Amino acid sequence: MYDWFARATASVGDVRTGCVRALDLDPGDTVVEFGCGPGVNVPALREAVGPTGRVVGVDITGAMLGRARGLAERRGWENVEFVRGDATDPPVRSADAVLATFVTSLFPDPYAVVSDWCELADAVVVAAFAPRGNRPANAALAGFARVNGRLFDLDSDDPLDRLDARTTAARRALADNAETVTEERYLFGTITAYAGHGRAVAPGE
Ligand SMILES: C[S@@+](CC[C@H](N)C(=O)[O-])C[C@H]1O[C@@H](n2cnc3c(N)ncnc32)[C@H](O)[C@@H]1O
Repeated sequence: MYDWFARATASVGDVRTGCVRALDLDPGDTVVEFGCGPGVNVPALREAVGPTGRVVGVDITGAMLGRARGLAERRGWENVEFVRGDATDPPVRSADAVLATFVTSLFPDPYAVVSDWCELADAVVVAAFAPRGNRPANAALAGFARVNGRLFDLDSDDPLDRLDARTTAARRALADNAETVTEERYLFGTITAYAGHGRAVAPGE
């Protein structure tokens, strides 16, 4: 179902192309997408890195990777690779850029994970649900989060609080580890994309 949903909404609100733009990729670059799911961001990533670049999708769920690999095969993509792995313990040493859309809210400690990604690449873009956008959007998001409660491991507390805390933690990790952080909001402020570029200079360096 996620495959269908993600494809049906792929061009809504310019979120995906906006995130890829924020990576500031050059032709020939290698970009890693953590939690790539069925591969909805891959067409825009491929376009940005060109035929000499590489796109590596990492996901922990075999069924998602099956969908992504099927897509790559149908489209004849040769510079795309899908790897089964855990984004919290990345099976990748370095890349030019890292993208993760709608993934960091699934981690209990997004700060640690996003900080690690900043060690891998000079450009890291994270898109996540940003609760507290506006009232109707919050109501819709709260409903969505309840339906998907198990995904966000939200058994008891307020789903919006939990989402908010995880999105804030991801942003804080970029602020602490990247030289610059920019922010773009999409879909009435319900989705925020943070882009970190460069490495923060540690005090005394
Ligand atoms: C909501 S989907 C988002 C998929 C895709 N990024 C998109 O924007 O359509 C979350 C994805 O993250 C993957 N995922 C969750 N935890 C993960 C982990 N620890 N490592 C890698 N992938 C993970 C899930 O399998 C799923 O494909």
